[in-house]
Amino acid sequence: NEKPTALIMIFGATGDLAKRKLFPSLYQLFQKDRLDRFAVIGVARRSLTNEEFKDSVKKSIAPNGETDSSIEEFVSKFYYHSHDVTDSNSYSALNELAKELDSGYKLDGNRIFYLAMAPEFFGTIAEHLKSDGLTDVGGFKRLVIEKPFGHDLESAKVLNRQIRTAFSENEIYRIDHYLGKEMVQNIEVIRFANSIFEPLWNNRFISNIQVTSSETLGVEERGRYYEKSGALRDMVQNHMLQMVSLLAMEPPISLTTDEIRSEKVRVFRALRTIKGSEVNEYFVRGQYGSGTLNGKDVPAYNQEEMVNPESNTETFVAGKLMIDNFRWAGVPFYIRTGKRMETKSTKIVVQFKDIPMDLYNKQEGSVSPNLLVIHIQPDEGITLHLNAKKNGQTFGSTPVKLSYANKGIDGLNTPEAYEKLLYDCLRGDATNFTHWDEVALSWGFVDNISSVWENEKEESFPNYNSGTMGPRKAEELLEKDGFFWWPVENLDIQE
Ligand code: BG6
Repeated sequence: NEKPTALIMIFGATGDLAKRKLFPSLYQLFQKDRLDRFAVIGVARRSLTNEEFKDSVKKSIAPNGETDSSIEEFVSKFYYHSHDVTDSNSYSALNELAKELDSGYKLDGNRIFYLAMAPEFFGTIAEHLKSDGLTDVGGFKRLVIEKPFGHDLESAKVLNRQIRTAFSENEIYRIDHYLGKEMVQNIEVIRFANSIFEPLWNNRFISNIQVTSSETLGVEERGRYYEKSGALRDMVQNHMLQMVSLLAMEPPISLTTDEIRSEKVRVFRALRTIKGSEVNEYFVRGQYGSGTLNGKDVPAYNQEEMVNPESNTETFVAGKLMIDNFRWAGVPFYIRTGKRMETKSTKIVVQFKDIPMDLYNKQEGSVSPNLLVIHIQPDEGITLHLNAKKNGQTFGSTPVKLSYANKGIDGLNTPEAYEKLLYDCLRGDATNFTHWDEVALSWGFVDNISSVWENEKEESFPNYNSGTMGPRKAEELLEKDGFFWWPVENLDIQE
């Protein structure tokens, strides 16, 4: 159904995610007339009246206080329930409100439970939703959960077992917001809707693939969470490996959720396991020191709030992944992600193999390899880097670039990831959410690395200055193989 009907319950409704992403995304859907009948119950511990809650929703969509009839109509569908996650009575009261809204708004017994809160409560909530009758509905029931989905494979299994008591796998929508990004979704289209790329998309023509997701922000106010997580769990286990799986997967036989997910799972299964003794050969970690960013002095990670001054937590990871199958044998996939780096940028660089012999540049150095760059953010688009003749009476070649800048639907911007993912969930399309098999395999991969790092104190932390592209060792990782990181800060879409 393209215009879904549902009751949406947002647990953690006074939190940052709800305010920054969920309410504004729902409002976008409402404004674009994508929703049929709906109502929202905000659930959180704090005691608030419906009116106070509506005000906070209004503020999140119109921060300057400007309001209009569309905003008023939107927030009129919002209700608040002050909740104790461990108390059955509180769930019963919530269910009463839900039933009332269901019949008042004619919501067909469809319910979405969105857990926008700390994961330690996921299990308890899911169990109560079932035992207190909230999942006993006439329509569909869906659970949406945010990361982190566990801390390692073991804790992820426990969590999964708990939520599976109340929801089946196809009712669980595990968010990886990178999968909602327009250009991440574009990876499949670029590959499978163009006949010129797929024949080259293998180890005969590609020399290596580089995926960089750099941030300029530091840990901000999330020190408590981040100290236990680090970049490997925070970014690699989910976003980075998801992008790799889309780059490496085989063409699915159709675009159904199951077909796409099973091809992605096969990539995770082919990821070479890194043995303990090899971890520091394949992976590099870093922690930011102080430095200057956009002309401002910024503190080192270990000086941030809620961070141990002796912290051994990494804020940067670079790694080399090998995918052991016919298509990719021998092709390194390099990944790199970190906080407080020089630039905020997510890009994928596909580097093709060198030509067999350079006819044109004998005196001027070697010809540049062809690159296909997928610009995920902040710019969205694709560039194809070729070589053309240098102008004038010479036969030298010079690199040129074909560019496509994605300007979005209205020529201004593309929909936010959360808007698309919420809409997918409301429509019952789980393609851009992660299946348990992907989660389990990616935790297995990451656990091998974190278990070595946890037991081995990194002596040289912090080891990169804020405002740089990470530690020197990350450069060496590629240099050992005869490659280098293509400087993402210079890879603009437009020339
Ligand atoms: C989140 C991480 O999943 O992704 C954050 O927890 C990180 O630490 C964020 O900052 C990056 O997302 P984006 O969309 O800004 O690249």
